[in-house]
Amino acid sequence: MKLLVTGGAGYVGSVCAARLVETGHDVVVVDDLSTGHADAIPEGARFVEGDLAEVAPKLLAEGFDGVLHFAAKSLVGESMQDPGKYWNGNVLTSLRLLDAMREHGTPRLVFSSTAATYGEPEQVPILETAPTRPTNTYGATKLAIDHAITSYAAAHGLAAVSLRYFNVAGAYGSFGERHTTETHLIPIVLQVAMGKRDKLSIYGEDYPTPDGTCVRDYIHVLDLAEAHLLALGHAVAGEHQIFNLGTGTGFSNREVVQTCREVTGHAIPADFADRRPGDPAILVASSDAASTRLGWKPERPDLRTIVSDAWEFTRARG
Ligand code: UFG
Repeated sequence: MKLLVTGGAGYVGSVCAARLVETGHDVVVVDDLSTGHADAIPEGARFVEGDLAEVAPKLLAEGFDGVLHFAAKSLVGESMQDPGKYWNGNVLTSLRLLDAMREHGTPRLVFSSTAATYGEPEQVPILETAPTRPTNTYGATKLAIDHAITSYAAAHGLAAVSLRYFNVAGAYGSFGERHTTETHLIPIVLQVAMGKRDKLSIYGEDYPTPDGTCVRDYIHVLDLAEAHLLALGHAVAGEHQIFNLGTGTGFSNREVVQTCREVTGHAIPADFADRRPGDPAILVASSDAASTRLGWKPERPDLRTIVSDAWEFTRARG
């Protein structure tokens, strides 16, 4: 297929773009490099640098079989301080993309949605039918895009799949996580192991969880990429399918730090700080729907594997 990958210079986008190229697709990456890295774009993909809202209409006129839409602002904290950046950057840009797809008859869309669309869950594991009550602007913008996709699919016959990622981690060889502003737990812990930070602060030790720290469902970025490949093949015209992607197993922040200590062999000093506003206590996915309907199964659910791959990537970059 000829595929447009928005945000293909970012973490998840670059891993997916790499797998798409490896599996024989014709890949065009569009990225404004605001947070992505030009050297993360896989060899064999064509790269167009620019603002998605401006570039997409011109590119899609060439004729594409589908779009994988990763490009987004994705810092939860920043989304609360500067919501306009998220409503404009995520929602408006996505609407421009949807309109361009409609205009040029692009038949398929796979969209990067998020567990943040659910907010504080009433029940875990979280099903796709759970209430969507995002606790932050980032999640609200992703949910708004999901709603737009549902109505474009129904009205215009778009074949759409939204994938709601839980906590993505790990790396795929030279493709990995390197944000300029890092807020995610595993890369921060590994920065401590690398000597780039003195210590780590674990946010909150009084959550209603077995060890008092938050519990998250970590999914290996390569397993996530495979889900995108499957989603492309299972998109149905006129339908908007939504799937959660996690392993169904939660690890506490303490467990994550301990696993990082074991994998890296570094002491990784950690203290406890106040809770981070907006953090739900437990986020664990039910991915039964992805398993049943996409035939997806995480091949690397072990936290040690996820951390080892992230560590190898981190060390290789120095
Ligand atoms: N954490 C710390 N110390 C740190 C960084 C994080 O204790 O220095 C904790 C957080 O408080 C949280 C856990 O580690 O309890 C995981 O935090 P991350 O920032 O790594 O991930 P989140 O669960 O907050 O975020 C992930 C995705 C978001 C998505 C969200 C859905 O990365 O994009 O899940 O809730 F919005």
